[in-house]
Amino acid sequence: MKFKIILLILSIFLIFSNLISMENTISIIPKPLSIKQGEGSFTLNDSTKIIIANNPHQLKPIAEHVASRLRTVTGYPLELGTSSKKKENSIILMIDEKLKRVGKEGYQLRVTEKSVTIKSSSPAGIFYGVHSLYQLLPPEVEKNEQVTGVKWSIPCVTIEDKPRFTWRGMHLDVGRHFAPVKFVKKYIDLLSSYKMNTFHWHLTEDQGWRIEIKKYPKLTEIGSKRKETMGDSTPYGGFYTQEEIKEVVNYAKERFITIVPEIEMPGHALAALTAYPEFSCTGGPFEVGTTWGVFEDVYCAGNEKTFEFLKDVLSEVIPLFPGKFFHIGGDECPKERWKNCPKCQARIKKNKLGNEHRLQSYFVQRIERFLRSKGKRLVGWDEILEGGLAPGATVMSWRGTEGGIAAAKAKHDVVMTPTSHCYFDYYQSKPDSEPKAIGGFLSIEKVYSFEPVPAELKPKQAKHILGAQGNVWTEYMPNTNHVEYMVLPRLLAMSEVVWSVKKQKNFEDFSKRLNEHYKRFTYRGYNFRAQK
Ligand code: ACM
Ligand code: ZN
Repeated sequence: MKFKIILLILSIFLIFSNLISMENTISIIPKPLSIKQGEGSFTLNDSTKIIIANNPHQLKPIAEHVASRLRTVTGYPLELGTSSKKKENSIILMIDEKLKRVGKEGYQLRVTEKSVTIKSSSPAGIFYGVHSLYQLLPPEVEKNEQVTGVKWSIPCVTIEDKPRFTWRGMHLDVGRHFAPVKFVKKYIDLLSSYKMNTFHWHLTEDQGWRIEIKKYPKLTEIGSKRKETMGDSTPYGGFYTQEEIKEVVNYAKERFITIVPEIEMPGHALAALTAYPEFSCTGGPFEVGTTWGVFEDVYCAGNEKTFEFLKDVLSEVIPLFPGKFFHIGGDECPKERWKNCPKCQARIKKNKLGNEHRLQSYFVQRIERFLRSKGKRLVGWDEILEGGLAPGATVMSWRGTEGGIAAAKAKHDVVMTPTSHCYFDYYQSKPDSEPKAIGGFLSIEKVYSFEPVPAELKPKQAKHILGAQGNVWTEYMPNTNHVEYMVLPRLLAMSEVVWSVKKQKNFEDFSKRLNEHYKRFTYRGYNFRAQK
């Protein structure tokens, strides 16, 4: 009798500890909409196949991606097949119109002891299902070599998932510090693993013009180089050829990421004006920025030639980026030069603009019309609200959420990216325990707490909030190792802000899941800040 009781207690204990450990094995970030755990697991072995059930044209690249990742770590052949008959011991990818109910980025992932099935109404959803699958496998799946001694098991589970927002963004400033193509791809990999779908590539700055423009070669010959950085007496430079840009755009596309390029105007243009001073108000000469900040020399808004130049530049950039959004900056444009420029003043008078803010609005509206004629939608920082918003413009709200609120109320689309919650150049903890940053303080908990839809918006207005984005300004990130440190792990908090529904969010639960990701960062060769 006593023995039976002990046995009973022991088995209850085992069941519970098993349940707890099973709970621990599901650490997917961002948190899926619904997870129903089963019992048991599916284990990969040397006869597991990857089945493309239908739509081979769309699914084969994803199946090859899965096969390549899993072959690397397991050493198993993981042959691709197209028959949907033999379901056992397979990972099956299937386009299923019924899954339209979870949108085109939504998916269903079902793991039984016999097979794994990922279904979606579109390839994007299948891709996200695959990334959830990787996160269900042991962290060694992230290694770039064959790993022995690991049981490649996936817990039985049914996941149904879809994103909350359509704009799930991360930004990177390559103007202050250049990021080579190899790193940009590594960054894109990271974004896609956490189901982000938008990469905002900030390509031009006072301190460097980073994209080849064939009609204006001096933009890179002169504008991509600065003689030093903050007095270090060391020349610095770098730019992307158009071929490299195309390569990155394709790489992103394969990972269901749209790149939003940013060509800054009318401010933050000192590198361009150093190359072509004739498009400034004073005529120069200038020097590519060697210190950080906001500079008074900006594009002359009274000179027709400035608009011709910008249209020429945009005409070369637009075809490189197939996405519908195009960012033109618009932030931090001092008006001093315009106030003292006869051409700018003549424009204000002729067009009865009244002041320099409305001259900026005139400038942005002209560019907006041009972009629209090329099938693009203009995005600008929230300063583009000043002096009147261009019709159809999308506002990126960074100086708080007020600009975004005003724009949404005026029926304009908005991406929320306030400094308070979205600036990954801010310190992650106390400055004296961190490498030098630009300032501020943004803990991962604060990022996680961000709610992109302000409470004061009515449901109809709230629909204009497309999503949110983390911004990575690189003044104090001299190398890409440092970029990774600033982005990880805060990116994961942002991914849950933009993907997961509000009621699924819980910081304690997130933190537990996050602990399971550090090993993955290490195996993938990412630098990161471990939360203490
Ligand atoms: C910005 O941070 N100047 C948009
Ligand atoms: Zn001027």
